[in-house]
Amino acid sequence: MEMTQKAAQFLREKLGREAEILSRAPGRVNIIGEHTDYNDGFVMPIATDLATYFAAAPRDDDTVRVYCGTARELVEFSLKTLPRRGDGHLQDYLAGVAWSLGMEGISFRGVDAALITDVPIGSGLSSSAALEVSWALVLMAAAEAEPMEPRKLALACQRAENDFVGMKCGVMDQMASVLGRRDQAILLDCWTLDYQHVPLPADRLAVVVMDTGKPRQLVDSEYNLRRQQCEKAAQLLGVRALRDADMEMLMERAENMDEVIFRRARHVICENERVFECAQALRDADFQTVGRVLNESHASLKEDYEVSCPELDLICELAREQPSCYGARLVGAGFGGCAMALVRSGDEESFGAAVKSAYDARSAYQSRIIPVHADSGAGSFRC
Ligand code: GLA
Repeated sequence: MEMTQKAAQFLREKLGREAEILSRAPGRVNIIGEHTDYNDGFVMPIATDLATYFAAAPRDDDTVRVYCGTARELVEFSLKTLPRRGDGHLQDYLAGVAWSLGMEGISFRGVDAALITDVPIGSGLSSSAALEVSWALVLMAAAEAEPMEPRKLALACQRAENDFVGMKCGVMDQMASVLGRRDQAILLDCWTLDYQHVPLPADRLAVVVMDTGKPRQLVDSEYNLRRQQCEKAAQLLGVRALRDADMEMLMERAENMDEVIFRRARHVICENERVFECAQALRDADFQTVGRVLNESHASLKEDYEVSCPELDLICELAREQPSCYGARLVGAGFGGCAMALVRSGDEESFGAAVKSAYDARSAYQSRIIPVHADSGAGSFRC
């Protein structure tokens, strides 16, 4: 059954309502540009065909009832009080998005809704952004609000996550969820929010997600520490953000800089350059270069930025041993969760089977191989 139909069925069975609004918002896989977004740098994600779906019906009061068909759980709260649990539970995301959209002057109506998702939760594929954006579209539609410019909507969702849920993420995930396009990656400037689509031809290049099965650990604390280290580096280099620094500036100050701060800055500066090298190679259909740049990104995330782990390193090494693989790297914040590989189209299955059996034999964790496609961005409609 189609995902939207499943969501509508949950709405009928659990909350006794027929769907009037349907929404979908995708997760993302970042092709390249990792840990650059909060440095006002460049990223190049795709929106995936893994997504979060809502079926909803407006109410005549201020109550929100959301049945999560994936977790088999009902969340209920009032739009007047917007309670915060503070533990990153689903309710915090739902209330947080309502709180943040409220700051845009939207006056809401209560809503009954059911959600389901096939974005793996907490694995680095942006399950949070998919949830926020899909839910924001439901609230907007229920309120019959004027459609919001997609990037403005993405920023409102990021604010919900930063200031209500308490995760200081950058802007990449929410932007990817709204700006996605089929068979295209999104080259995004995280400072100006200008973007271009870059071809990712599905008939030649397959994106394969490799979930290490290793739960992500210490993500919040280590992520926030990286952010602080980057701010420190920018301060020492006399720039507003590391986006405005280059290797020449860094080398000039290297001697007076703490070694860790130096390496963090080097990752960000070089990663920004890699984003452009990768975008150009994609435009030229030079997939060998694309793959090399991906491998360099992983090495830099491992050595300079120190956000990898043995499981991510292993699965990327095993991926690269496959002749059909152009390159592989960890994806998202790191510290466990998923990696991705770019593979010759048509070879995804044999590639996936080989990586899985080699990884599972050598790791304490079971991997999951998930081929994904670059897909369109979020949307909603009334039934
Ligand atoms: C997480 C954050 C993003 C980005 C990545 C690292 O996914 O949500 O904003 O910073 O980590 O590139």
